[in-house]
Amino acid sequence: MCGIVGYIGKQKALPIILSGLERLEYRGYDSFGFCVFNSKPLLYKEVGKISLAKALAKIKSDGLIGIGHTRWATTGEVTKENAHPHSGCKEEIFVVHNGIIENYKQLKEKLIKEGHKFKSETDTEVIVHLIEKYFKDNLEKAVTRALKDIRGTYGLAVISVKDPDKIVAARLSSPLIIGVSEDEFLIASDPSAIITTTRQIIILEDNEVAVIKKDGLTILKEEKELKKEPEMIEWDIEQAEKGGYKHFMLKEIMEEPNVIEDAIRGRFILEEGNVKLGGLESVEKKLREINNIFLIGCGTAHYACKIGEYMFEEYADILSQSDFGSEFRYRKPIVDKKTASIFISQSGETADTLGCLKEMKEKGAMCLGITNVVGSSQSRETNAGVYTRSGPEIAVASTKAFIGQLTILAMITVYLGRQRNMSLTEGKEIVSALKKLPLMAKEILIQAEEIKKIAKKYNKYKDFFFIGRKYNYPIALEGALKLKEISYVHAEGVAGGELKHGPLALIDKNCPTIAICPTDAVYEKMISNIEEIKARKGPVIAIASKGNEEIKKIADEIIYIPKTLEILTPILSVIPLHLFAYYFADSLGCDVDKPKNLAKSVTVE
Ligand code: F6R
Repeated sequence: MCGIVGYIGKQKALPIILSGLERLEYRGYDSFGFCVFNSKPLLYKEVGKISLAKALAKIKSDGLIGIGHTRWATTGEVTKENAHPHSGCKEEIFVVHNGIIENYKQLKEKLIKEGHKFKSETDTEVIVHLIEKYFKDNLEKAVTRALKDIRGTYGLAVISVKDPDKIVAARLSSPLIIGVSEDEFLIASDPSAIITTTRQIIILEDNEVAVIKKDGLTILKEEKELKKEPEMIEWDIEQAEKGGYKHFMLKEIMEEPNVIEDAIRGRFILEEGNVKLGGLESVEKKLREINNIFLIGCGTAHYACKIGEYMFEEYADILSQSDFGSEFRYRKPIVDKKTASIFISQSGETADTLGCLKEMKEKGAMCLGITNVVGSSQSRETNAGVYTRSGPEIAVASTKAFIGQLTILAMITVYLGRQRNMSLTEGKEIVSALKKLPLMAKEILIQAEEIKKIAKKYNKYKDFFFIGRKYNYPIALEGALKLKEISYVHAEGVAGGELKHGPLALIDKNCPTIAICPTDAVYEKMISNIEEIKARKGPVIAIASKGNEEIKKIADEIIYIPKTLEILTPILSVIPLHLFAYYFADSLGCDVDKPKNLAKSVTVE
């Protein structure tokens, strides 16, 4: 999400750090900062974009050690105070951090009682206060001790004027690499930040702590020294930005398991079969009274709304209706004190969705948001909401953000359900199943090569149907949208039961159907639909539950997904469809990340 760069060596650190930060610009960020040691620390933070020339003209530093950061807000708004590096009470220790500290609220409370003064709203700041608390005379010892108190994920770099000739770096589930050159080392969360200086890198693994000095590097795991040799990366700058993948879209699909993990991190109360959604705390009481919910979004976000509609009705017993932002404007929704509206948007800047938000606010409905971009117009305008924490999405076609939206919707369902009739057992069942999803998502991604072969095999066809029922009907719509928007072939999503009411007329050997048919409550009905298609010689690609052997008798191709609760299947079943669309479009040579006529953020109505 955010970007880290650090330098220690014989050259001036500041220009190297700034150009590293500039190279991370492609990921998107809202603020940046750095700390370089001269005779005393020079700390600089800014909201907005980096201008290397401007920053260098304004600030001079001969310091040979420093750390820098580009922030993409997750905890705390976009402000100078919330930008990294963060320092402790005494401005002697400085930290840049990527990741999420789950227990930061408890730690912050305790540290405040102990006399620590906080300057920001971030989770990161607790790290630096903990290091300050444990610091005696050695930085790595204080960092290692502080990490024992932390629950969550981190890639971090720390420097201190009290132990000034080193950078201490640590990693848990958030990437960090060390660039090795002669008498100098760089540290970065992303190779693109450093490969113009060196291609020799050491990848820091989980639970490893690196102590980097200008004349040498020590890597520790459980306080024991590890031997690690640098490896050579051959990527050019463009490949490095994409994490070695050919396109951002593929990189973002491959991040889908992490997106689920980040969305649920620290948000479960397992023993209560419930979730903890900080962003909804202020409206908790009012939400108990709600009996009518409108879900509004555009495009892919609208399909998330549709799935939310099924979820809320089935598990929270609340009347729910979804609509496109662009259509809802023309309706006359019945709004009273018991009405809530939920706006779903990756960017938080979609004009049609924002227009509806404004109208619903005027009508007096409670307005909640599910948004990816912290500080976006939507997140500022809504009364309360939940961030998806999916990280920057760069490809125009939304993929990982959709996974984040569905995961949050499932959690809100548990939250609303437990306020109403959902039993403890049912709550626990959904929460436990959600916890298993990241691994299951990874299992699907392992089949990428198989899916690629299927996509290539079918890339001569010009018309596709996608069918599904119940939770997987909106997934059929999403699969079709993804295919058409990036490959420019005609694709239509249809509710399985609607085939015979018209679309079946188009089925023949030249029109394949992708049937989403996990083993769930509507499985038998889906099989009947597949039989209708086969009777008309239509090729069928089935997305089926692992272990379903029977499907082999009727489908031409099968992509298996792991079994989970029915309510959570869409979070898995969409992953092969994202991959299918990607490989299909790529095999046709399409500009996958920037499809023609489309923009990432649609800020016009
Ligand atoms: C499809 C896609 C679009 C967006 C839509 C809403 O792949 O990306 O349909 O989902 O434009 O955008 P956000 O979520 O930013 O409101």
